[in-house]
This record gives sequence, structure tokens and C-alpha cells, in this order.
Amino acid sequence: MRDAGHDGKGKGLILGIESSCDETAAAVVRGGTEALSNVVASQMNLHANYGGVVPELASREHLKNIVPVVREAMSRAGVGFGDLDAVAVTEGPGLAGALLVGITYAKALTFGFNKPLIGVNHLEGHIHAVLMEASQRVGKSAQDGGPLLALVVSGGHTHLYLAEQREQGAWRYRNVGRTVDDAAGEAYDKVAKLLGLGYPGGPWIDALAKRGNPLAVPFRFAQIKPRIHRDGMVPKNKKAPAKVDGPTFDFSFSGIKTAVLRYIETQGMRERIAERRSMLADHPEWKPGSDEAAAWCDAQTLDLIASFQHAVVGNLLRQTFAAAETFGVRSIVVSGGVAANSELRRRFQAEGDKRGLPVAFPSLALSTDNAAMIAAAAWPKLVAGEFASDDLGPAPQLRLGGV
Ligand code: KG4
Ligand code: ZN
Repeated sequence: MRDAGHDGKGKGLILGIESSCDETAAAVVRGGTEALSNVVASQMNLHANYGGVVPELASREHLKNIVPVVREAMSRAGVGFGDLDAVAVTEGPGLAGALLVGITYAKALTFGFNKPLIGVNHLEGHIHAVLMEASQRVGKSAQDGGPLLALVVSGGHTHLYLAEQREQGAWRYRNVGRTVDDAAGEAYDKVAKLLGLGYPGGPWIDALAKRGNPLAVPFRFAQIKPRIHRDGMVPKNKKAPAKVDGPTFDFSFSGIKTAVLRYIETQGMRERIAERRSMLADHPEWKPGSDEAAAWCDAQTLDLIASFQHAVVGNLLRQTFAAAETFGVRSIVVSGGVAANSELRRRFQAEGDKRGLPVAFPSLALSTDNAAMIAAAAWPKLVAGEFASDDLGPAPQLRLGGV
């Protein structure tokens, strides 16, 4: 793959641009695997003041950052626009106004420099974050015969995909699981907010969970009925349609958030939470795992945090390995912001070892949103000649692999 070159002439240099949520990112990647630069301007601190991403603010920040971020990526890579073989941009899913900034800029560049434009699904990007690093390590495609199973788990998504590379280089995906309500990262963020912790909640809960008892509060997950209809749930009171797409392994994370809220109420924890919230607001410099921050969490809170994480990771693990067994995959890749979670990495690795199933994660830098993953996902499309048309626009609800 690496040596194929899309026409044997180019250097396989792709500029990737990502602006789907709260990170403005640009990267230059050679041959789909070698990141020559990877620049990310995060708006996290801006949105932290509001406890979540504010779409209007995100678009304005992208507008401010896009030109300097792309320039920096080009200069760190030591290449000029004329050297590029293509520009790849995230077309969705994400915030419409935020996506529009990256897409408009990418279109202007491809128009001005007469280069092909490639549209990339953000979720496909997350999967390729792992694949690019794995193929760097082993020097060949991470896909070792047959499809692999990809868990994409972030603030906006919790999806399971069967992913397979076709002969002509392009990847094909089949969605075999998704959350029916909140994403796992969203549950982390909402529970952290309920407990008066910082934003985003994932790193806070990850760090503090190490100090609590994961078995103190027994959270349970409801069993979700398999979806069998091609597009959504089987309609109530109706028999399954004749056309069956196969089993799915869905997730639900809104129940555990409600359970945490109920626990807080019944255990009378509100006052302590209010104290903690105001202490943390006065000390924005306190890091998630720091002793100062932990000192404001009593044993009961730490136990609640550890139990929440234990339950969420357990649920992700059970569904993923059940799907892996059903579909007989040879490997699993886990990506997205929540793939940075230390307990998730440890338990997935251990389960994979037990079953003789390799599990791959991206480096921490490539777990969260970045543009190297967009450029990497665009490489097989460049090889296969899958280019975007002039009317490429934001696709906020874009899906991957149907369903
Ligand atoms: O992929 P990402 O950067 O953006 C989206 O596409 O959503 O993921 C951000 C999400 C947030 O919900 C954040 O709380 C979560 O990833 N996250 C974590 C950790 N680091 C980030 N969740 C659990 N443990 C972590 N260490
Ligand atoms: Zn993402």
C-alpha cells in the first residue's frame, strides 16, 4: 500500500483538516502512515467555562484558528501547498457551523492550488488513528485477513463497526452497534458535572477512580434488545422484517447517569458537591489527578466515581467482546476520546490477552480529535480515486457503514 502511490508520481502527501467539534486541527501525512506534522488548537478551556461545547463559540474560534493552524502544519512538515497530492477534510458528523469552517477553507485551498479534495467521515478518521500507528509498528496493514472490529467511543459517539479493506484499497464499514441515547464520553462529562468536577469529565473521573473502590456501588446496565431492522428498531408490536441484517450490539448510557443522580440525592451528597464545585472554580490550575483536587472528594465520592467507571468500562467491554465473538474477527481497535481511559485500556488488553485477540489503541495524542487521522483515512481514498465533488458541504448527521 505504502509504495503504491496513487499514480506512481506523487509523494502521497495529504493535508488533513479537522474542525468538527472543539478542536481546530491540521496535519500533513505521507503515504497514509507517516505524520510529518500534527497541529491541534484546542478550545477546551474556552468551553470549560460553560460546562460543554457552545456551537456558536466553536465556529468563531475555528475561524480565528484555521489559517494559523494550517500554516503551522505545513511549515512543521516542511512542505508547500504545491507539493500536496490532496487536501482531506472532515465532512461530518459534527457541528454544522464548525464543519463549515474547515470545509470552506479546504475547498479554497484545493481550488487555488488545483488539488483534489477528499471528504472524510470523522468516525472513519478515529479508526484510522489506530490503523496508521499499528501499520507503522508492524510495517504492514493492521488488517490481517478478514474484518476487524472497531469501537469508536467519544463524547459524541459510541459505535461498533466491522471494518474491512477491499482489494482496490478502499475501506468498507458495517455498523454493528451504537448507543441508543448518550455516548459514553457524554456520560463521563455529565456525571463529572453532577459531581462538581471539571470539564471535560473523562480525565477527572479516570484520575479520581484510582482512589476509590470500584465495587462499592453496584450499577447495572439494562439489556438492550437487538435491532434487526435495516434502519432502526423493530417497530413495536410488529414481527421482525424478512430482511435481517444480523445482530447488533447496542449501548445505553443515560440510565447510569440517572442512577448516579439518584445516589447523590438519597445519600445527601449535594452540599459537599456544591463546596467542591466552588473550590474547583476558584482553582482552575488544579489538574484532574492532583492531590489538591482529590482532597475535596471524600471516600464516598471516590467510591461512586470508581464504581461508575467500572460499570461503564465493563459494559463497553462486554458488548465489544460479544460482537467480536459473534463476527469472528481477528482483532479489535478502540479509538475516540474515551479510548484514553486507563481502566478501559487495561481491561480491554487483559480480556484480549485472555482470548488471544489483539487489541490496539491509538497513542494518547491521537485518541482525541486531530487531523492526522483525517489525512490517514483519506489515503486509501486517494489510491482508489474517491474524490469529493465541488458541492461538498457539512453533513452534521453523517453515518458510517449504514444504520
Ligand atoms: O474524541 P473526542 O476528543 O471528541 C469527540 O469526538 O467527542 O472525545 C472527547 C470525549 C469527552 O467526552 C471526554 O470526557 C472523553 O472523551 N475523555 C475521556 C478521557 N479523556 C477524554 N473519557 C474517559 N477517560 C479519559 N481518560
Ligand atoms: Zn472525535
